[in-house]
Amino acid sequence: MMKKNVGLGIFVLAGLLTLASPSSLQEFPWPQFKGFDVPFVPTPTEVVDEMLRLADVKAGDVLYDLGCGDGRIVIAAAKRFGIRAVGIDIDPVRISESNDNAAIAGVAGKVRFIQQNLFEADFGDATVVTMYLLTSVNRRLRPKLLAELKPGTRLVSHSFDMGDWRPDETSVVTTSFDDQRAVYYWVVPANLTGRWEWDLADGPRDRHYTLQTTQQFQVVTASGTTGDWPLNVNDIELAGDVIKFRADAEADGKMVSFLYEGKVQGHTIAGTVKPADNPKAPAVKWKAARDPKTAEPLDKDI
Ligand SMILES: C[S@@+](CC[C@H](N)C(=O)[O-])C[C@H]1O[C@@H](n2cnc3c(N)ncnc32)[C@H](O)[C@@H]1O
Repeated sequence: MMKKNVGLGIFVLAGLLTLASPSSLQEFPWPQFKGFDVPFVPTPTEVVDEMLRLADVKAGDVLYDLGCGDGRIVIAAAKRFGIRAVGIDIDPVRISESNDNAAIAGVAGKVRFIQQNLFEADFGDATVVTMYLLTSVNRRLRPKLLAELKPGTRLVSHSFDMGDWRPDETSVVTTSFDDQRAVYYWVVPANLTGRWEWDLADGPRDRHYTLQTTQQFQVVTASGTTGDWPLNVNDIELAGDVIKFRADAEADGKMVSFLYEGKVQGHTIAGTVKPADNPKAPAVKWKAARDPKTAEPLDKDI
């Protein structure tokens, strides 16, 4: 049982009273007060369950709830999956309530609650981040999320999206308040922007390849060269730090296609290549390097 939320500050109460429905958070011009960007409104249990399911939380994860309220998401994750979980909230009342709730739930040793402004917090070791903020707040937080979270980190947000960073998945939950809540899911994409180069043996010769990419969050477009020929790059799939694409180029008067797969780590991609028309052919190792000067932040607003 969660501890009852008593003693709401007058301004929180005033904020809640202006909401269309006190059971859910509404996007409205919330007057900033002492750094609070969002009032406290708890996520219903069934939505917490869906957030943890959609984020595929499992043993070994490290979960952060940004604006943790009474700690319910952090506590549910620690209790259900035995994982380390951290809640950050600017309100000392919420932090003390979260600590009490964690003790009642028997997970005090697994969780940590930090009183801090989430815009100043360090959550770079997260593998899962949960949020119930507002789209306007998510949007302001987005450059920090994209710059500081590791590629592959899963993000879920109750009700509020990230503007033009489209979710990878969305689900809808009917709550006990008989309303419907969206839960949005994203995987933090690796940054592939810039100019990449690599060499590959093609029979007795080495071929030099270049690739110029642009990126709109998880959507990557690219084109390149191999020797003097254009390299057409298609079917690009980026999932966290794993990139796959097909590259078509002319060689000795005929078109040849290769399937590339690799893991992005900073300014290198390492993986394998196979001919597209013979997926059973032995994979050849491939390693590309980026000119660091050509990389750009994923969120231009940073
Ligand atoms: C809508 S509640 C969500 C609570 C909890 N995550 C949940 O889903 O039940 C938002 C929480 O964010 C906190 N908050 C608002 N602005 C914040 C900020 N700048 N930094 C940290 N916490 C903040 C509020 O105190 C509130 O507890």
